[in-house]
Amino acid sequence: MDKEIQKNIIPHDAIINKNHRRKLNHHGSAVLWFTGLSGSGKSTIAHNLESALYEREVRTYVLDGDNVRTGLNKGLTFSPEDRKENIRRIGEVSKLFMDCGIFLLTAFISPYREDRQFVRSLVESGEFIEIYVKCPVEVCEKRDVKGLYKKARDGEIKNFTGISAPYEEPESAEILIDSDAMTLEKSVEVIIEYLEQNGYLEIKG
Ligand code: ADX
Repeated sequence: MDKEIQKNIIPHDAIINKNHRRKLNHHGSAVLWFTGLSGSGKSTIAHNLESALYEREVRTYVLDGDNVRTGLNKGLTFSPEDRKENIRRIGEVSKLFMDCGIFLLTAFISPYREDRQFVRSLVESGEFIEIYVKCPVEVCEKRDVKGLYKKARDGEIKNFTGISAPYEEPESAEILIDSDAMTLEKSVEVIIEYLEQNGYLEIKG
């Protein structure tokens, strides 16, 4: 934004902050950032995790690429620049959700390390939990739930992650889910255990 315009924007101080909201909710909050290839299982795990957290009376929300790209991020392409913008906006949304004191579960391919790192840097330390849903591209392609891998192979879709566009694997994700080898139930259990062991499900502040 133009510096002249920005200097005349003065944010209002909130009376109620995230610690008040966490207290009200009786639990902490974090961004559970699922990253991995299309068809690796990010959204499926995120939605099942949300159900498990709901049973524990934990407040959550799921955002995923296919939904957000029809609304907030409508019109963005799959070029590296637009993917960056896609993730930048979700990063800003993540920050707002942290202020709400709830758990945000995001399911975006987010193929670039730098973009994921950017989101991590936007929120407070401990608020960003990177979950790498690891699955060989051959397996995702075999599943081909949406028929997109076939289209990518046929050249109908350009810049398709894993086929004609890169995916940079996380180097130090907080949680690794081998979705090819792990059941859905086990995947959810592993994440819940992480949240429990690290005190996220208790009141903070
Ligand atoms: S990201 O790379 O910018 O993080 P995002 O998660 O929002 O991607 O969207 C990925 C979804 O868009 C995929 O699950 C798939 O359904 C669809 N899609 C359409 N074109 C592409 C493409 N070229 N590469 C990857 N996914 C695509």
